[in-house]
Formats: sequence, C-alpha cells, structure tokens
Amino acid sequence: MDPSRLQCLIDLGHTDQRRREDAVRDCANRGEAFVPEVARVLQEGDTGARRGAAQALGRMGGQQASDALTAVLDAEDGKLRKNAATALGRVGSEAAVEALGRRLHAEPLDYVRSAVVLALGRIDTDQTAQALLAWTPATPSDEEARRRALGDRVPRAPVGFDTDKPWTLPVRLSVPQGLEEVVADEVRALGVPVSGTHDSSVRLAKGTPPWAVWPAVRGAYAVRAAGKGAPEKAIPALLATLTRTKDTTYRLHVDGPRRSRAELRTLLTRLRRLLAPLGITDQPAAYDYQIVLTQQDTFEIEPSFLGDDRFAYRHKDVGASIHPVIGASLARLVATGPTAVVHDPTCGSGTLLVERALLGAGAVSGTDITQVAVDAATTNIQAAGLDIAIKLGDSALIETWPEFVDEVIVNLPFGVRTFGSGEDVTRASVAFTGAKLNRGGRALFYTSQVNTVTDALRDAPDLKLVRRLDLDAGGIHVVALLVERA
Ligand SMILES: C[S@@+](CC[C@H](N)C(=O)[O-])C[C@H]1O[C@@H](n2cnc3c(N)ncnc32)[C@H](O)[C@@H]1O
Repeated sequence: MDPSRLQCLIDLGHTDQRRREDAVRDCANRGEAFVPEVARVLQEGDTGARRGAAQALGRMGGQQASDALTAVLDAEDGKLRKNAATALGRVGSEAAVEALGRRLHAEPLDYVRSAVVLALGRIDTDQTAQALLAWTPATPSDEEARRRALGDRVPRAPVGFDTDKPWTLPVRLSVPQGLEEVVADEVRALGVPVSGTHDSSVRLAKGTPPWAVWPAVRGAYAVRAAGKGAPEKAIPALLATLTRTKDTTYRLHVDGPRRSRAELRTLLTRLRRLLAPLGITDQPAAYDYQIVLTQQDTFEIEPSFLGDDRFAYRHKDVGASIHPVIGASLARLVATGPTAVVHDPTCGSGTLLVERALLGAGAVSGTDITQVAVDAATTNIQAAGLDIAIKLGDSALIETWPEFVDEVIVNLPFGVRTFGSGEDVTRASVAFTGAKLNRGGRALFYTSQVNTVTDALRDAPDLKLVRRLDLDAGGIHVVALLVERA
C-alpha cells in the first residue's frame, strides 16, 4: 500500500489529537474506495485506531461504512460505541435505526446513550421518532438529548391533569415498597392529608388533586388518579381529568391478580373496543398516558409527561447509584435538624448528600474512593446549587472522616469486594460512626449485607438500632438500618 495511505490508517489511533484529526480527515478525503481499508481498522485495529476509524467512516458515508459501523455498536469499548453511533447519525443511515434503537435500551453509559439518541434524531424518520418516544429516559441528560433529538417533531403540548377543573377522584402515589410511611409523612409535611398507606402506595385524602403533591413530593415515583366501577363509566371519568384527550395515545396495562393469557387477551380486547369510539389511540410504543386496571373494576390513569424536574441535578451517575426517589426518603429518615453536620463515607454520585442538604443542614460532606465518583458528585452538587465538600479518600481509614458528625448517611457498596486499604468499608463505617457520632446523632446504613452491619453494631455499644426497613431496590432485597447514639 502507498505509504501515505498506510500512515493515515496508523495515525487514526495516534495519541496526539491533532495528528488523529488530520488522519480522520485524510482517510475521509480518500473517498469511497478507501472504505474497506478503514473498515478493516475499525474491526481489527487497536482501541484508539478503532475509535478514529469510526469517525472517518462517519464522514465517508455509504452502505459499506454504515454496515461496518453498525457491526461495532455493541463493542466493549464505550467510546467506540459512542463514535460509531455518532457516525451512523452523520451518515444518516436508515438501515441502522433498528440497531441504534436496540443499543438505546441496552446502553449503560450516559454519554453513549446521549450519542445514540442524537444519532436517531439526525436520521430523522417516523421510525426514529417512534423509537425515541417509546424509550423511557433514565437521567436528565437522557431527557435533554431526547428533547434535542426530537426538536420540533413533537409540537403538541403534553397531556397532563387539568388543574382548572374541580377534583373528585381518589389519588394514589406510587412509592418504593417499604418506605410508604416515610413518604406519607413527607406528604403530610406538605400540608396534604393522607387517607392511608398500602403496599407501595400512599393514598391522598378525598378531594385532594394530584397537583397538591406532584412534583413536590420527592419520595414518590409517580402519581395516579383512580376510578372505580364498570370500565364504561370509570375510564371516561378518568379521561375527563386530563387537559386533552383528542388525538391522544394510551397504553393499557393490567396489574393486580394473575390472569391466564386467554383471560388477559379477552379483557384487553374488550377494553380496546370500549375505548375505540373515544377517539384515542392504543400506542404502547409512544403513549400520552397509561390506563391501568389494578383490580376488578378499579382503573387508574397516569399521564406520561407530568412536569418533573425534581432530580434535574443528576447529570452524572456511578454504576451503583441509589434511585433518588429512595434516597430522598432515606435523607428524611436520618435528618436530625437544620444545623446538623452530615457525612456520607461512600458518597458515589452524591445522591444522598444532595437529598439531605435540600432538607437543610449545617455542614455536609462526602468521601469516595474513586475519582469517577468524586467527579460525578461534584458535578451533581454544583448543578443542585449546594455547598457540599467532596473528598477522594478511603473511608476504611479513620483519618478521612470528619472530626465529629451529627448524622451519617451511607449507601454501602453492594457485594463483598473491598477497596483501598482492603479493610471492609462496611465494618469500618459502623465502627467510625460509633467513634464520631455526637450524642443524639443518627446514622442510616442502607445495605444489602445486613448481617455484616448488625454484627459490626455489636461492637459499637453506643449505637442503638431504632428502626429497620426492608426494601426492594429493583429486585434486590436491601435493608435500611437507622441507629441513634443515646
Ligand atoms: C453503592 S455506591 C454509593 C452510591 C451513591 N449512594 C449514589 O447514589 O451514587 C458505593 C460507593 O462506595 C465507594 N467505595 C467503596 N469502597 C470505598 C472505600 N473504602 N472508601 C470510600 N468509598 C468507597 C464506591 O466507589 C461507590 O461509589
């Protein structure tokens, strides 16, 4: 091969950014005939070269480039996946839409998901808009990427509850299982009466509209209005609470007692037939609201796009970050007062600290052993506009802890891996809480290793267990142990 051609392929992975960019441009300028060479680097090159090859193919375009890029969408290297997605968007490859849609749902990394969303937006077909609307964004950056990707393709105002109409229907908050009472207290603190709690539910007192608590309540996943009675009456009554039903789309969902497949099919067919004359469309891939059959003759409605900027501060994530809805309730549980000194020794992306600081505290600090977590927490805290001191350090060493604390809130690492000094950070957190907690102080250990914590508590005689909550965190049994220092 002509040495300059070879050189530009080699330089695709150059450590110097300038050289790399020149090589990408050089390869792209060599045109379609050079695609197979670049595609080979994409398949077989080293990590850096593959990333560069993806960029070059994005500029070269054509079916062959598109096929090669699609083939690496599931590669191990996140940056390569990102570059491949961006390149496919640039190529405008309709053939890649399906693969991009699959990646969107499987992709664990925020920044790669954003690239996939934007690529789908660039390809701009009805199918891409559907794929984007059918997907549930997991983070604020997902939301933002989707908003940018869809641009003006969703011009209609979102469907919500109509705040101008008098409210008569029952309202239920869907909350983390095990935290019902904590959320009920939060609702009462908002000045809203509660009529009861139930498995993963907090029911509002009669006549209370959803907007009395939503989105103010931080401990709830969603808010739903309920209607009892035959579907012919109950569903239209639910639809009447919305700002708009004309040209809207819904998804039917059946909760509650198990039904056989045949039973379920008959039921859904009957409901669809009933809904057909109402001028609303069953579109499970992109719906304005869900209609849920919870039990015999009880229906609920949940609009998909109720304003919710409660956790907009979450720009960055770590692998094991806690769901902020759960974090919000844990922060309430541990809170002792507005001047408390609060510490989280394994702060990850800072969720617990932000949620606690929002309730009002004196000094708030956190430590994590990984730089990725420290960076994520710092970004999120800044976005929340809060003053929280985050440090890189090993919390199994007592010198990384503050001199004294009024509250410790900790989401201990799952699993049995040890970090840093090799000491078990779970045991160390309990022991150092025993050493550092002021009288009247409280600590909350959120852990999947309850035995390790209860064991360690035996060696910390000043700490008294005051409450144990058994929770379900996405299928994992987790325990929140609240302790106090007398
Ligand atoms: C379950 S995560 C915490 C997630 C956090 N609550 C959030 O919402 O992002 C546990 C964290 O403990 C950190 N960690 C593990 N061992 C540690 C140690 N010895 N000292 C400090 N942090 C540690 C991990 O890096 C990880 O970020």
